[in-house]
Amino acid sequence: MNSKITAIGVYAPSKRVTNEYFEKIIETNNEWIISRTGIKERRFAEPDEYTSDLCINAVKNLLAEHPEINLDGVDFILVGTTTADQIMPSMASQVQNAFNIPNTGCLDIMAACAGFVYGIVLAKGMIAAGTHKKILVFGAETLSKFTDFTDRTSCILFGDGAGVALIEASDQLKIFKPVTGSDGSHGKDLYLSQHASVVNGEQIIPNGKIHQNGKVVFKWAVQTMSQKVRELLAINNLEAGQLDWIVLHSANLRIIEAVASDLNYPMDKMLTSIECFGNTSSASIPLSWDLASKAGKIKPGNKLLLLGFGGGLTYAGIIVEA
Ligand code: COA
Repeated sequence: MNSKITAIGVYAPSKRVTNEYFEKIIETNNEWIISRTGIKERRFAEPDEYTSDLCINAVKNLLAEHPEINLDGVDFILVGTTTADQIMPSMASQVQNAFNIPNTGCLDIMAACAGFVYGIVLAKGMIAAGTHKKILVFGAETLSKFTDFTDRTSCILFGDGAGVALIEASDQLKIFKPVTGSDGSHGKDLYLSQHASVVNGEQIIPNGKIHQNGKVVFKWAVQTMSQKVRELLAINNLEAGQLDWIVLHSANLRIIEAVASDLNYPMDKMLTSIECFGNTSSASIPLSWDLASKAGKIKPGNKLLLLGFGGGLTYAGIIVEA
């Protein structure tokens, strides 16, 4: 059985945080942030607004924008997140409860910024196995609650948001073969720990804040991601020219520009959300999709290559038809 993405819904908290905010708390400026990252503003959740709330609002928006869709028969919920409200219950179970969806499996996916694409990969596999038919896949984060606001190299990057895709069984091939992979030797270069203090044999700081070796992650992403786009195209017998859009994780606009340049792919066909939402980790790909969709760019039948990467370091990519 094949599968398709029936609809996307997103939600971002209403609190806008411009680069000027950071000029007051760290040594930085608007020009540096824009030129080194592409970010103009991001959204922060309120103190009493959590990742599960963002997921629930994303579903409400999906239902409001697609009156033909309902949640009847949803048989699995997958939530990619690194910033769950708590370790248990899962965010997926919180969504199940909010919408009172009966008899549905619930699972959170810990794959950092690649979590949303990992969710699509898993949903495709479950539908192909014939065990499930209608799956909600989320990428949702409240990174601002885990940001070290004294670290000027990372705090300017992160924002909060959520996206959800409804994935359903289909008689047409609309979700193609994926690539997945990881390089755990870089675990210490991007981590968030509440209690354990050793990663890759090295001492880390378990203070519940995101720590990033930005230069190393940047270099790894630029070197690895264009290679993964080529692999995805090859295993699906496609050429880059047959893609309508590439949606790389919005980590840094310069990473997206470098990958586009390496692939000789036009930058205006790279969909991004970094400019107005910052780096929202697993939420960035659905946010980019939604922005482009609302701008009238994505048409039914368009082919999109989605590629997420992040803490692990891990990545997942898949080509889908809108
Ligand atoms: N404002 C002003 N200056 C800053 C700054 C800030 N917020 N942060 C760092 N700088 C300074 C540095 O101290 C350094 O100064 P120095 O040359 O005097 O030492 C200079 O700017 C350049 O720093 P560098 O770390 O080389 O910047 P960069 O161009 O690599 O950008 C990141 C830093 C974090 C934006 C970038 O490395 C990045 O985006 N990394 C990858 C992020 C990512 O992909 N994450 C993965 C998944 S979530």
